[in-house]
Amino acid sequence: MTNIILLGPPGAGKGTQARRLVEERGMVQLSTGDMLREARTSGTEMGKKVAEVMDRGDLVTDEIVIGLIEERLAGNHGSGFIFDGFPRTLAQADALGALLGRTGRQLDAVIEMRVDDEALVDRITGRFTCGQCGEVYHDKTKPTAKEGVCDVCGSTDLRRRADDNEESLRQRLMEYYKKTSPLIGYYYALGDLFTVDGLAPIEDVAAAIDGVLKQAEAGRG
Ligand code: AP5
Repeated sequence: MTNIILLGPPGAGKGTQARRLVEERGMVQLSTGDMLREARTSGTEMGKKVAEVMDRGDLVTDEIVIGLIEERLAGNHGSGFIFDGFPRTLAQADALGALLGRTGRQLDAVIEMRVDDEALVDRITGRFTCGQCGEVYHDKTKPTAKEGVCDVCGSTDLRRRADDNEESLRQRLMEYYKKTSPLIGYYYALGDLFTVDGLAPIEDVAAAIDGVLKQAEAGRG
């Protein structure tokens, strides 16, 4: 079992690569962004508050997201967990370490996906996803083969996220640099950090991530 974190700013390609690892390796993707998007459609008071915070581009409280992850860690782990968009603060990183330790698991690699800020605006404003199967597309770099129809499941329910606009992105980036980027140093100090070039084409990023997994698995012996 291999457990990894995909770490990077909004639009770095975390979700794109996580979906591929699920398909090709049978890993389980734990995306706190996806979990929170589910919560916001619940219509509960908590869901409404989460929606406001996300649309502004701010981070949801540590307590909420740690609770979500704790619940999922008790479920199916496939051939390992991919933490996508979690942890995002030092408190979340400490909590994850404690949760993994308590359940007798370890973290094998933290993969930093490095991307220039200028590329992110283009990535975020051009993104759309399938509302049925979750496949991620892009107007320019990954359009659907047939306009308006998902290549994977054939659905016409293609959606754009409410926070995928330049104003929210600016705030999301600010949150990333203030609260999440310190995790790069944190995991470097723990000896878990690997860095890949997130600006490379999707297939090249995938190959680099596969290389890291091989290295991490070999290191574990
Ligand atoms: P979340 O859903 O986690 O969003 P994010 O981190 O901002 O990341 P994105 O989903 O925007 O980007 P991605 O890296 O997955 O990129 P993707 O693969 O889609 O979080 C949303 C919000 O929820 C947060 O702002 C916060 O409010 C809240 N939240 C979530 N987790 C939280 C936590 N732990 N604590 C507190 N709050 C939390 O790719 C983007 C686009 O680029 C796509 O169109 C794709 O096709 C394209 N693309 C991907 N790779 C490439 C490539 N190599 N070359 C060219 N194009 C590419």
